[in-house]
Amino acid sequence: MLIFGIETSCDETACAIVKDGREVISNVVASQIKTHQAFGGVVPEVAAREHLDAINIVVEETFATAGIEPDEIDAFSSTAGPGLVGCLLVGLNAAKTLSLVYNKPYIPVNHLNAHVCANFIDTRLEPPFTCLLVSGGHTQVINVSGYGNSAIAASTIDDATGEVYDKVARLLGLPYPGGIQLDKLAQSGNRYAFKLPEAKVGDDEFSFSGLKTAVLRLVQSFKGVEMPVNDICASFQETITTTLLNKTVKIAKKNGSKTIVLAGGVAANSRLREKLFELEKPENGSFSVFAPKMKYCTDNAAMVASAAYFNPMKVENPLELEVFSRG
Ligand code: KG4
Ligand code: ZN
Repeated sequence: MLIFGIETSCDETACAIVKDGREVISNVVASQIKTHQAFGGVVPEVAAREHLDAINIVVEETFATAGIEPDEIDAFSSTAGPGLVGCLLVGLNAAKTLSLVYNKPYIPVNHLNAHVCANFIDTRLEPPFTCLLVSGGHTQVINVSGYGNSAIAASTIDDATGEVYDKVARLLGLPYPGGIQLDKLAQSGNRYAFKLPEAKVGDDEFSFSGLKTAVLRLVQSFKGVEMPVNDICASFQETITTTLLNKTVKIAKKNGSKTIVLAGGVAANSRLREKLFELEKPENGSFSVFAPKMKYCTDNAAMVASAAYFNPMKVENPLELEVFSRG
């Protein structure tokens, strides 16, 4: 089954064609990073206009690189939410239009499920597993018991992981998008240089506001003297990745999961991936671990087409579905 996916929930205009949810035939991403860099973050109205400018070109390029004609596609899909409403509308209307013109089904997809499904691409992963989903808008541990069958076991009570990365990066004077910059500097810093706090919250919660404030205080303490930026990055990164994985492992053990999976933009983080793969060792629980390929961690449409195959939104009349901002 060939599915055409469209992703426009934030600042990437992306299309992909994926066979049977796992085999990527073509994958095109047009990033708006350069536009938003001038503002230090994503400006929703600007992002929506850029999607409008890019969508037709990205759709055409996706067909061209695949060497596939639109009438060979079995279904068209797009992210319906959560995300920026004006941005989502562009992708949703493009996918609905293609489905009407070529008389094929339209399959709406939840963005968070799409991030999880990125793990099915080029792998043989099958449920059950426990997934740590860390993106710019969400932080969740999800017990996935079957395709389209999951339960949230923990979530953040304040900032999302990617959001904390971006805010701490800004405190350190790093350019947008901060997460990836912080990760780069952390790699040459001393991760034990500073002891930063881990929040004392319940097993089903994450909280990062205390950590963020601690970094702010640390930054302020270097007023007038040169700040050891790389050491601060490395110490912050060590603290947050430890918190995330410790809780995920605890939940996986409680749930009897033998497989742990990463998802979302922060799944591209070097230290998080390194620590994830340490969980394969017998002394760390002999877990099977999966993380999406780097290009499928941050927003892309291959994961949307995969989710349309494995975990479509269950709605009675997809063509009447509207976009949604939260969920
Ligand atoms: O999943 P995503 O592309 O968009 C959302 O659905 O939110 O995630 C974007 C987030 C941003 O906050 C970005 O800074 C973060 O993922 N990110 C990273 C890295 N690459 C992207 N955070 C830490 N380390 C990275 N290497
Ligand atoms: Zn995302």
